[in-house]
Amino acid sequence: MDLAVLAQRLAEAGQSHLLQFWDQLSPEEKEDLYSELESMDFTEINGFFENAMMTFTQGHQENVDARMEPVPREILGSVTRDVESLKDWEEEGLHCISQNKVAVLLLAGGQGTRLGVPYPKGMYDLGLPSHKTLFQIQAERILKLEQLAEKHHKAKCCIPWYIMTSGRTMDTTKEFFSKHKYFGLKDENVIFFQQGMLPAMDFNGKIILEGKGKLSMAPDGNGGLYRSLGAHRIVEDMERRGTAYIYVYCVDNILVKVADPTFIGFCVRKGADCGAKVVEKTNPTEAVGVVCKVDGRYQVVEYSEITLATAEKRSPDGRLLFNASNVANHFFTLPFLKDIVNVHEPQLRHHVARKKIPHVDTRGNLIEPDKPNGIKMEKFVFDIFQFAKKFVVYEVLREDEFSPLKNADSQDGKDNPTTARHALMSLHHRWILNAGGHFIDENGTRMPAIPRHGPAGTLTPGSQNLKDGTDLPIKCEISPLVSYGGEGLEEIVKVHPEFHPTLVIDERGIHEQVSNGL
Ligand code: UTP
Repeated sequence: MDLAVLAQRLAEAGQSHLLQFWDQLSPEEKEDLYSELESMDFTEINGFFENAMMTFTQGHQENVDARMEPVPREILGSVTRDVESLKDWEEEGLHCISQNKVAVLLLAGGQGTRLGVPYPKGMYDLGLPSHKTLFQIQAERILKLEQLAEKHHKAKCCIPWYIMTSGRTMDTTKEFFSKHKYFGLKDENVIFFQQGMLPAMDFNGKIILEGKGKLSMAPDGNGGLYRSLGAHRIVEDMERRGTAYIYVYCVDNILVKVADPTFIGFCVRKGADCGAKVVEKTNPTEAVGVVCKVDGRYQVVEYSEITLATAEKRSPDGRLLFNASNVANHFFTLPFLKDIVNVHEPQLRHHVARKKIPHVDTRGNLIEPDKPNGIKMEKFVFDIFQFAKKFVVYEVLREDEFSPLKNADSQDGKDNPTTARHALMSLHHRWILNAGGHFIDENGTRMPAIPRHGPAGTLTPGSQNLKDGTDLPIKCEISPLVSYGGEGLEEIVKVHPEFHPTLVIDERGIHEQVSNGL
């Protein structure tokens, strides 16, 4: 341990305060702090801070509204407006999968602070009848898709699953997968890698101490992906496996169509190197980022960057002009991703998130601030759209494909375990109806297909309702091992057209249990 050398480096970087409690630390704490500081590149971190703050200030001064253009129809594919092409695109996607050309990349390095559980979000039990976690649902969708591609093209295939974790989630995530035998996937096809961490800094660029011997560290955003792909030589691993296309997504969307063959097929047929899935934004004040063109390049513009007047603009067809809500589902070709990792990554600037960051004061007392006292620096996965030579956008239905888990349950809450669970059960209910089946209550009466809106407190027979009078969804869950996207249910429904909720259909059969509770 050469403390003098470290102290000198810190002094040169203006970060000497990090050793202010050194004499009060135990030998173990000293060792931990020393090795953490030793491995850090302060010149780089200070540079990140300056660039991030500069971009942040510029962003607030420049008016992006005037330079925004909506996504043009010619680069847009839509599940509602291009119905005649969907089968073709799906075929193309399944063909690519059957040729082992598709890999899946999961962004699971977030801290999930809003959900507030002490373990990775993918391990969260959403309270579904099966009690499956997000990781299990996603693993089973991959398994099912491999089977569908094999059936279509009579070739054994594999979809490698790359899972990005952070320093905080790596061990728990790996242990969870190992404990559950990779949910039926082969362990050599589930590849974990770790993203980088960055220190939180105060507004003057000083690294924040969250304990006397502990820096406040956080993952460097889901756009930290590109740097960590390089650091862990993941692109080389993809090349070795023959991957040509990569499907990237976030862990928190219960409805995610992992490696969606129709989206992949659409991107491939359009000759795109980069694609983004979007859902239609229908409410001007919804807090989502929209995909659009700025100064001729595609990017995501955050809701906080535009004025209400721009958010409210409408096209002649009555839809919002800027309606392409980003849902963080992306398609990349391998050469595009390789270029990002090897060439463009250093050009990406960190975004600034002003946060309330717990810290120690000069006496070493822990302070929980009540207003933002510093910043976290993050890159975003979509920061690379600007480098695409051929960018495409694919619009899907929110109710079929997007229900993220962000918050803990609370009354009237949004994006929480209840809304996620309801979204999945409502989708599966619709799958049953579309396959020709229906639900009956405990008296044998048919339950209405569409949840009724009535005064709060009135109940549809066999159901419960929410405060606004909307019926709760019928409890119905179909295992991804039975159906990836609603297909293959007709056979089941033919022999068994009536179901009682709670209904679970899984690889072992049909399970019904008459109950109302959710
Ligand atoms: P969010 O921005 O919603 O963050 O991540 P989060 O960590 O899940 O939740 P909060 O904000 O702390 O409450 C969107 C997706 O990006 C991943 C997350 O795991 C999630 O899949 N992510 C986020 C990363 O992989 N790395 C990061 O540094 C941040």
